[in-house]
Amino acid sequence: MSIEKDIYTQSVHGGEVKFKYANSITNPVVHASTYVFKDTEELCDYMEGKLVREEYGRYGNPTLDVAQNKLAELDNGEQALLFPSGMNAVCTTLFALMKQGSHMIITSDSYRRTRQFIKEILSKFGVEFSIVEPSHDAIERAIQSNTILIISESPTNPYLRVLDLYKFVDIAKKHNVISIIDSTLSTPYNQKPIDFGVDIVIHSATKYLGGHNDLLAGCVISNKELIANIKLYRGIIGGILDANTAYMLIRGLKTFALRLKQQNQSGIAMARYLEKHPKISKVHYPGLESHVDYYTAREQLKGYGGLISFEIDGDLSKTSNFIDSVKIPSIAPSLGGVESLIEQVCLVSYYDLTTEERLKVGIKENLVRYAIGIESIDDLIEDIDQALKSI
Ligand SMILES: Cc1ncc(COP(=O)(O)O)c(C=O)c1O
Repeated sequence: MSIEKDIYTQSVHGGEVKFKYANSITNPVVHASTYVFKDTEELCDYMEGKLVREEYGRYGNPTLDVAQNKLAELDNGEQALLFPSGMNAVCTTLFALMKQGSHMIITSDSYRRTRQFIKEILSKFGVEFSIVEPSHDAIERAIQSNTILIISESPTNPYLRVLDLYKFVDIAKKHNVISIIDSTLSTPYNQKPIDFGVDIVIHSATKYLGGHNDLLAGCVISNKELIANIKLYRGIIGGILDANTAYMLIRGLKTFALRLKQQNQSGIAMARYLEKHPKISKVHYPGLESHVDYYTAREQLKGYGGLISFEIDGDLSKTSNFIDSVKIPSIAPSLGGVESLIEQVCLVSYYDLTTEERLKVGIKENLVRYAIGIESIDDLIEDIDQALKSI
């Protein structure tokens, strides 16, 4: 009888065998660019698919397999693939699935580099695309006869819009298109898109999954068929995660559920504190009743995560003064690690744009993104409080 495991147990033991190399409790890091065959018969058995084993480092690695199996288990997917960054996971997946003359839909409030890859690179190969607001009506309206894929983050970044995944999947099934959710912000702790029928889940494992601001990795989780296709492209393009980083990811994942529990609790506490503060004009957090997608989020998410966006009642420089006055979080891009990070969104991901161009893509100059780590929430709030007093 199989035992259905809780995510706390899966984070520690998922994807691992109990008895490992040399009876070590931890997984071995296999440093190998190639793998040897005993004889020609073994080689031919492997080539004919009679034998499952490693062949060459660009196609797979046993340490990577452990991390992939753990991630597949956490997200209730059949298989997972790891890449050297979240962007590499996104790009390789879209390269594998899109073709000349086909059309895809992406929602607007999504990671800028993902949109850039589609707009500036995929389009050079004749891929058509529509960028639409993260609503089901807008997605369905954008469907064309040559649409083959829809992709969205949920929650999105930086406004934390939450899609109703049942509706998202309904649209995909009705029009026979592949559905992809970049689930970086929610993680399998808060939401498992595959349980809703989503075809492919992507994560920047750099964020909550790695969890320590010390590695870059990307992950794709799906069924065997889709994974086999994407794996073929990964093997050709060569974007495979190295064994050392896979080990660090496995280690980071051991405390994944503990970290997320704390980050969820801190996120809602911080959002409620900010919402009441007179120097904050708006808080974007799906766990607040004031958020546009609150009811969907409440139905769908186990927790609302550790990322909060908010607007300072003031202009660009007043917002910078606030950022410079906080003492615990570091000013840096990224999110999901144990250290809290803070950024003025327009000066990090949108520095090269003018004020008008920023507003056109919905980025206000007083917008702050706060990525909560695992520090004490009392200390973090006290710190924000003193920073707000100083402006
Ligand atoms: C939602 C989302 N997807 C993908 C990425 C890209 O991930 P990476 O930085 O690991 O390439 C990011 C990075 O910030 C992200 O926030």
